Amino acid sequence: MRTIYWENCIKMIDQTKLPDELEILEIRNVDDLVSAIKRLSIRGAPALEAAGGYGVALACIEREFDSFEDFLKYVSERASSLANARPTAVNLSVGVERVLRKVKAASSIEEARKLAVQEAEKIAEEDVFRNRLMGSFGAKLIEDGDSILTICNTGSLATVEWGTALGVIRSAKLEGKNIRVFACETRPLNQGSRLTTWELINDGIDVTLITDSMAGIVMQKGMVDKVIVGADRIVSDGVFNKIGTYTLAVLAKEHGIPFFVAAPLTTFDWEKKMDDVVIEERDADELRYCHVKCKNCRIAPENVKVYNPAFDSTPLSYVSALITEKGVIFPPYDESVPKVLKSKEFI
Ligand code: MRU
Repeated sequence: MRTIYWENCIKMIDQTKLPDELEILEIRNVDDLVSAIKRLSIRGAPALEAAGGYGVALACIEREFDSFEDFLKYVSERASSLANARPTAVNLSVGVERVLRKVKAASSIEEARKLAVQEAEKIAEEDVFRNRLMGSFGAKLIEDGDSILTICNTGSLATVEWGTALGVIRSAKLEGKNIRVFACETRPLNQGSRLTTWELINDGIDVTLITDSMAGIVMQKGMVDKVIVGADRIVSDGVFNKIGTYTLAVLAKEHGIPFFVAAPLTTFDWEKKMDDVVIEERDADELRYCHVKCKNCRIAPENVKVYNPAFDSTPLSYVSALITEKGVIFPPYDESVPKVLKSKEFI
């Protein structure tokens, strides 16, 4: 299943409609793409990287221009609005900047338009390829019969096709390992209950839905062998991922359960530290209503104060290993990660 692809415009699964409807959205301009990213029609760090790349390609064709200078000015401005649509996942700006570099290196509008689509397609293809690699490296950490707890959605829908943390689970299953998954519902937008369970049921992988606050009891009762999560940004002292990930990491440490993070190298922003990264804060109504789409189903006083950070950061000391397309990286990360990052451009 392709989450996002190019057919003279961007086509993508509208993730706000799942699990009820599998609807393909057609996006023909950057404003619509920015809105789609903000309302999470497309989401997940690697899928956002592809969306960012395709978005720059869209900016190149969405109107006519009098000169190459006008064209570059317009595309650069659109690129920056795209890159800032969501602040935490570094992959969005990685995808935008990569295609923008190609556009700037062109010598005509025609050439830039062609190069932009080509480069965006390359980003998408690479994502599929590196997820498969990550999956096969990560699958070695999983034993037959393992019960794995995960949060948010890190599958096909969060990437172009295969998935990061869910990709590892898929790859292990493909190797014939029997696996059971606990999916945290991932309040408030329920990527776990709406998307992860939908993907795993479709794949025939045994999945049990729990609320986020049930993670403790399943670990305490010995029902979880491993925790595997994705990442939106990995800095030199921590991992940013969906809100609730830090809680899982602390619980996993308390119960002696390995805690793995699966992410491509484009998610690494190693020059930065946890304090440098902006954590997106989202609309209060996501908590005041049972679902943002159900405005007739309020579950809190209308005027209650709300704190709604979309991500948290987990210090690297909680992470047993980082699963990447270059292999599994073990602590001490200040030594092991820079060695792997040096070879970043060869994938
Ligand atoms: O707010 P979202 O749904 O974009 O958050 C997504 C996550 O936190 C994922 O775990 C992360 O992007 C890794 S996805 C392969």
